Amino acid sequence: MALRQQLLIITGASGIVGSGMARAFLEAGTTVVAPARSPPSQAKVQAELAGWLADGQLHVPVADWGSVEGAAALASFVEQLGGGGGGVDHVVSIAGGVARDAGPAIATRVAPHVWLAKAAVPLLAERHTSSYTVVSGMMGEFCPWPEGALTAISSAAVYGVSAALRAELAGRPPRCNEIRIGTVIRRDSQSEHPLLPGRPAVPSSRVAAVAVGLAAGWQRDQLV
Ligand SMILES: NC(=O)c1ccc[n+]([C@@H]2O[C@H](COP(=O)([O-])OP(=O)(O)OC[C@H]3O[C@@H](n4cnc5c(N)ncnc54)[C@H](OP(=O)(O)O)[C@@H]3O)[C@@H](O)[C@H]2O)c1
Repeated sequence: MALRQQLLIITGASGIVGSGMARAFLEAGTTVVAPARSPPSQAKVQAELAGWLADGQLHVPVADWGSVEGAAALASFVEQLGGGGGGVDHVVSIAGGVARDAGPAIATRVAPHVWLAKAAVPLLAERHTSSYTVVSGMMGEFCPWPEGALTAISSAAVYGVSAALRAELAGRPPRCNEIRIGTVIRRDSQSEHPLLPGRPAVPSSRVAAVAVGLAAGWQRDQLV
């Protein structure tokens, strides 16, 4: 298969969307580096994806990639793993869940995408098969209720990050795409989103299949 033994960095793997995507790439045979921002997050990811730890297919370093220093530490880890000098095949950038306050909304939902891009783009293989995928949400396009303002503002800012990345990678082989989620996503193992009870929710494996398809395919500059 196309993704077998390729190297992927995916952030946000402790969360709803990222956990499903990390699992799907592991099932496709990809070697996955899923940084965790803290030891509790690391334990959560390791427990959820335990089956792939033993054979070295999954790596869960503690690195707060939501900061400049943490993203640099993540890059060092990947380099030591053999992903330096263009050894990374794919990156999936996911950051932050629900936005509660303006400062944290930018710090948790926007800035990490920027720090990750600065650290990970130089590691990307100069191949047409390589890809960088930014995960965002549809609420930057419209704000259905006032309480959603911070989510709308931060989501729209992520569109800017993704557009800037596509501009940066234009003319280079690695492809950059964005998955803009327009529905509520839940873990496959749960019946609903924990913060949005009663709302119809799609299992994360469904959006994960889209991410795997983008990485394995030839799409570039796509908004999916
Ligand atoms: N789930 C949905 O219904 C849905 C719908 C539309 C769009 N989305 C998109 O998917 C993204 C992830 O959503 P989710 O539901 O998976 O969120 P989630 O379950 O709340 O997970 C959030 C992830 O972001 C990490 N994070 C939190 N604060 C951070 C920070 N300061 N810096 C870096 N990472 C941080 C968390 O890591 P820790 O464990 O270390 O805190 C966790 O891995 C959203 O931002 C949005 O763009 C989701």
